[in-house]
Amino acid sequence: MSTVLTTHKDVSFDPETYVSTYYSSVTGHEEEGGMLQFFLDGLSDVFKSGAITGIRLLDIGTGPIPHTAFCAAPWFKEIILSDFSEKNLEFLQNWKDGKINHMGHIFEYLLQMDTSSSSLEKRQDELKMKIKHIIKCDVTQPNPIVSTPVDGVVFDAITSSLCLEAASTTLQDYAKSVRNLRGLLKCGGHLVLVGVLEQTFYRVGDFRFQCTYISKDQLQDIYQKEGFEIISLKYSNEKYSAHKEENEYSDCKNAFLMVAKKLEH
Ligand SMILES: C[S@@+](CC[C@H](N)C(=O)[O-])C[C@H]1O[C@@H](n2cnc3c(N)ncnc32)[C@H](O)[C@@H]1O
Repeated sequence: MSTVLTTHKDVSFDPETYVSTYYSSVTGHEEEGGMLQFFLDGLSDVFKSGAITGIRLLDIGTGPIPHTAFCAAPWFKEIILSDFSEKNLEFLQNWKDGKINHMGHIFEYLLQMDTSSSSLEKRQDELKMKIKHIIKCDVTQPNPIVSTPVDGVVFDAITSSLCLEAASTTLQDYAKSVRNLRGLLKCGGHLVLVGVLEQTFYRVGDFRFQCTYISKDQLQDIYQKEGFEIISLKYSNEKYSAHKEENEYSDCKNAFLMVAKKLEH
């Protein structure tokens, strides 16, 4: 099937297609062989230690998938979800209002790894109660959030999954987005970042979204130069590059989960 190469600034992807392509099971899309499980296991580990905690958490580029917020929710009082796409914001609001229930199997998997004895229903209700705003965000802008209730707020922690490489197409612009995101974080605050390496595109329906191609060394270099201390950086052991020439959905070569801390300068 022929696809159109585009960017998120030009086309907002379809949340339903994204969910059914990449989140229909906890192992994710078959071309990404277990990548989603690597992210889910890693996020669960990072948060269940209780080392990352605070009052306000911002998730950047949530898309239609609030799994990161689910892991973080027990450790924060208020959660803000954000995305560039209005369609994703509407989808998330519908999920919060109980009109969509697409996260059950993912949340169930995360709950199995949790140390708490809460039921799925209770954890989901707690998450929804803590989500105070679902707002527009553009991480490529010096002030990524201009919505009145949140403008000017700095967060105790920021999470972001698969957004930064999708929000730009050059390393220079990627680094600017890191700088913009840093401005939303308080000093000493944590960034929990999920991402992919050496990816040029990922596909949703008929669209292939261009991404910033970033290597392991470039990743570490950018975050250190932009004023973060990398606390942990875990790579997936899977070799996603195995059949990349034929891959139709994503050509990423590796995946990572990073925890970093904002330094003063
Ligand atoms: C690959 S999806 C990731 C969605 C979800 N966080 C996940 O882990 O599956 C990339 C997301 O980044 C969002 N995005 C793209 N450009 C953005 C920007 N400039 N600012 C904020 N979000 C952006 C897209 O709308 C999309 O929801």
